[in-house]
Amino acid sequence: MLKPTIEAALNRQLNRELYSSYLYLAMSAYYDSINLPGFSSWLRIQAKEELGHAMKFYDYLSDAGGRPVMEAIEAPPKEWAGPKEAFAEVVAHERAVTGMIWALMDLAQAEKDHATAIFLQWFVTEQVEEEKSTGAVMAQLEAVGGSVGSLYGLDHHLAKR
Ligand code: FEO
Repeated sequence: MLKPTIEAALNRQLNRELYSSYLYLAMSAYYDSINLPGFSSWLRIQAKEELGHAMKFYDYLSDAGGRPVMEAIEAPPKEWAGPKEAFAEVVAHERAVTGMIWALMDLAQAEKDHATAIFLQWFVTEQVEEEKSTGAVMAQLEAVGGSVGSLYGLDHHLAKR
């Protein structure tokens, strides 16, 4: 049985994963609007992964005797200053999510909830991967500089994800 504090925190993270999916879908639409279909596709796939993360929280809440609650998801931004600025937000967002997962882990450990701590381990590892993959794209974007040709080359590369 989940303690109420843990159940509330897991539900909060379920909502944040859904927001991540929503944010990346908004970014996918943005990149499409500026003719970068590779970035758009990359973020669309990422949005689907975030939905998968949300469902892991949903299923765990349910399996552990809690109840998944669907709270309101705020609207993400619609526009960004440019392709680099938008992706910088992806990187910052993933770092913020890592902080949320770590805070959840701290709570599970403080409450001596071993099952939840083990469940969260997958997310701790996943965030290492998420920060690595988003950081790699950001580094490539930095390397592009002002070259439109290189930007289209990177876009083509990202379309292969
Ligand atoms: Fe669900 Fe990208 O963290």
